[in-house]
Amino acid sequence: MSRVAVVGTGYVGLTTGAYLAHLGHDVVCADVVPDKVERLNRGEIPIFEAGLEDLVREGLDGHRLSFVLGAETAVREAEFVFLCVPTPQGDDGAADMSYVQAAARQIAPALASDAVVVNKSTVPVGSTLVVERALGRDDVAVVSNPEFLREGSAVHDCLHPDRIVIGSVDHRAAMRVAALFERLEAPLIVTDPASAETIKYASNAFLATKVSFVNAIANLCEAVGADVREVVLGMGYDKRIGFEFLKPGPGWGGSCFPKDTRALVRIGDDAGYDFSLLRGVVAVNEQQYERVVAKVERMVGGSVAGTAVAAWGLTFKARTDDTRDSPAVEVIRRLTARGAAVRAYDPAASPAGLDDIARVADPYAACEGAGVLVVLTEWDDFRWLDLDKVRDAMAHPRIVDARNLLDPAGARRKGFAYEGMGR
Ligand SMILES: NC(=O)c1ccc[n+]([C@@H]2O[C@H](COP(=O)([O-])OP(=O)(O)OC[C@H]3O[C@@H](n4cnc5c(N)ncnc54)[C@H](O)[C@@H]3O)[C@@H](O)[C@H]2O)c1
Repeated sequence: MSRVAVVGTGYVGLTTGAYLAHLGHDVVCADVVPDKVERLNRGEIPIFEAGLEDLVREGLDGHRLSFVLGAETAVREAEFVFLCVPTPQGDDGAADMSYVQAAARQIAPALASDAVVVNKSTVPVGSTLVVERALGRDDVAVVSNPEFLREGSAVHDCLHPDRIVIGSVDHRAAMRVAALFERLEAPLIVTDPASAETIKYASNAFLATKVSFVNAIANLCEAVGADVREVVLGMGYDKRIGFEFLKPGPGWGGSCFPKDTRALVRIGDDAGYDFSLLRGVVAVNEQQYERVVAKVERMVGGSVAGTAVAAWGLTFKARTDDTRDSPAVEVIRRLTARGAAVRAYDPAASPAGLDDIARVADPYAACEGAGVLVVLTEWDDFRWLDLDKVRDAMAHPRIVDARNLLDPAGARRKGFAYEGMGR
């Protein structure tokens, strides 16, 4: 078993630290936020992620997992150091590498000889070299190990990965990293750093493409009078296509797809390749927010100015508290900008960054006096709410279901005007 340090305790770092401790390694996780570190040492989880609290508790109780303030403190004894810091979108669309570089510079003097620095942050092609330069240590190897977990099922995804990708010019270092995960029995791809870095962006770009594609098909279905659910059913049974990521909605969002698609377009530009396909995927997504807003406007007879709008959902998808680049938030802000008075309900959304949005603690309270209800996140709970109670609370019984979550016939039987996506 190995001594591991993890730098950054967000969605990726905290899950990585907890599952590596679960696999038997001794793990020290570092963050720069004192309150977060204190809470984590008490077993309090700052994010909403199924199974994570139990895993962290198991690590703390077994003395295989601890949390410290500052990366330097965490890495002194470590054989492996995982970088799990943010790589947000910079002003020019490219990934902002400043957190990764700062973390590398911070840990450089404290690293043990022969340590391996493993980069899990999503970074542009060539970043392994950037980390090597920031470290300035010939006796330390740098390996790329992109992360593919999905928020909402991060623990499951880490313990049952579809594949593990390791990119390095140093084969021995790559195999040492692979050994950390050997209990996981996942397909292992050991490759060069540029290919590993590209695999991560290509995977996210492909998934975003699937969603934009099905959104475009849904829009076409509306134009030609087809039902997108039937169309997807007929497509998905084809094994070459499958059903995953073919659900129409208000567009993709979250902390990864928006920044990673733009970063890949930028990587192409910098390398002299015009990734026009991906530009189109991004453009379809931007239009999708506006299509939802237009549906709401049509539903209320033209303008939403002065209309009370109930919004169900704030997170970018169900089973997470994350609202970063959430399409739900984007649609709410656009409606508000056009004069709607939006009241939103979400069962888990973190309050960070949502000061401008009026939230209520109950889905029915959101509907009180509303001229229209818009369903923006696919929380399962929303399926089972009492539509009679919703109708009685609303000024006008109208629903725009941007997730195709509710049963249109059932809603219409209850007296609602209903509009979904692509049907
Ligand atoms: N969230 C996802 O679903 C997901 C999936 C795959 C890959 N990724 C990638 O993983 C990386 C991290 O994403 P995330 O969602 O976990 O980010 P996050 O914002 O949730 O967490 C990052 C953490 O790093 C800490 N941090 C920043 N600088 C630090 C430093 N110098 N020392 C110690 N801690 C530091 C922050 O305080 C924060 O707690 C990004 O590159 C992202 O693109 C994210």
